[in-house]
Amino acid sequence: MMISPANPKASYDKRAALIKEALSRVLESGIYLHGNETKGFESEFAHYVGARVCLGVGSGTQALYLALKCFDVGSGDEVIMPAHTATASLAAVALTGARAVLVDVEADSFTLDIEAVKKAWTPQTKAIMPVHLYGHPARMDELMDFAQEKHLRVVEDCAQAHGAEFSGQQVGSFGDIGCFSFYPTKNLGAFGDAGALVFRDDAFVEKAKALREYGWKEKFYSEVQGVNARMDELHAAVLRVKLESLNEDNARRRQIAKTYSEGLEGLDLMIPQTAANVTHVFHQYVVRSVRRDALRSFLHEKGIGTGIHYPHGLHQQPGFQDAIRVPGSLACTERMLSDIASLPMYPELAEEDVRRVIDAIHAFYHEGI
Ligand SMILES: Cc1ncc(COP(=O)(O)O)c(C=O)c1O
Repeated sequence: MMISPANPKASYDKRAALIKEALSRVLESGIYLHGNETKGFESEFAHYVGARVCLGVGSGTQALYLALKCFDVGSGDEVIMPAHTATASLAAVALTGARAVLVDVEADSFTLDIEAVKKAWTPQTKAIMPVHLYGHPARMDELMDFAQEKHLRVVEDCAQAHGAEFSGQQVGSFGDIGCFSFYPTKNLGAFGDAGALVFRDDAFVEKAKALREYGWKEKFYSEVQGVNARMDELHAAVLRVKLESLNEDNARRRQIAKTYSEGLEGLDLMIPQTAANVTHVFHQYVVRSVRRDALRSFLHEKGIGTGIHYPHGLHQQPGFQDAIRVPGSLACTERMLSDIASLPMYPELAEEDVRRVIDAIHAFYHEGI
C-alpha cells in the first residue's frame, strides 16, 4: 500500500457519521450561506484562537486579500513577506495592486528573517505578512515590536498553523488580522475550499464583513467596493465537527514528528528544529538532504509518497514578476528549494507506516544509493 504525503479521506473516514449528520443538517435546513453553521463556527473558532472575532470566507487566499484591503493596501504600497511560502500568499498581495517585497527565511524555523525585514523596510511599506510555515510560528514578539515602531499593519498567514503557539499565545492573535485556510489537507481542513479571518479587536471587523459581501453596508447597498468571499454552510458544518478534535490531531502530528526525529537521528539529513518557546503543529515534517531527489525517488519506489513545499521560490514565479521586489539575498530560500522534502504527515498515519518511512530512509543511506 502506498503511503501518501497527506490523506484528507482518512480524516473523513475517522468521523464519517458525524460529518454526514452535519451535512444532512445543513441540507435539510434550506439555508446554505451565512446561517447558523457559519455563525457557530465563527464564534467557536474565535474562541479557540483567542481572538475577538472570526469571519468565515471562501478560502485562505480570500482571507489574506480581504485583510490587506481592510488596511487599504493598494497600488504604490509595499508588503514585506517571505520568499519561501505558498504562491497563494503572494497572489493575495498582487490582487490588491501592491508590491510584495520578498525577504529570506531563517534556516532553523523556515519563517521570516526579522533582520531582513528591517533592511527591506521603506516609507512605502504598509504591512508585514509573516507566514507560520509548516506549522512553526514566526518570531512574533520581535516582529510586532518592529511593526509598532514603524506603524505597520501585520497580517499573519496562519494557513499552515492552526493551533500553533508562540510564547503560549496562538498564532493569529498577534497581528491586526490572522488568516487561515481550511484547504482539505490543512491541520483543520474542510472538504473543499474555505478560509477565515480572525481579529484581535473590533477595528477592522465591520469593514471586512462588508468587503466579503459586495461591500454591502446593508443588503443590496454597497458603501465600499467588495467581492463575494462567503463561506458555505456545508463547509462551516464540517469544520465545526473537525474543530472538536484539532488539539488531539495536532498532538498526534507532534507525536509522529517526534518518532521521525528520533528514528532519523544520526543520518546525513537535517531534521526540523523547533524553537524553545513555540508549540509546533507540524503541518509538514520537512527534512533536508543534499541527495533530496534520489531520496524521493527511492522512497517512491518503496511506496512512500513525499512532497516538496515548495519547488520554486516566490521570486521565481514568471506570472508574478511585476508584483515583486527582492531587496536582498535569498540565500537560505535558494538552498531550501534544492534540498527540502516533506515526509508523510497526517494525524491518521499509522505507527507502522511511520516506521516504514524511517526504515526506508535508513535503507537509502545504508545501501549507499
Ligand atoms: C501558507 C499558505 N498561505 C495561503 C494559502 C492559501 O489558502 P487557500 O488555498 O485556502 O486559498 C495556503 C494554502 O494553500 C498556504 O499554505
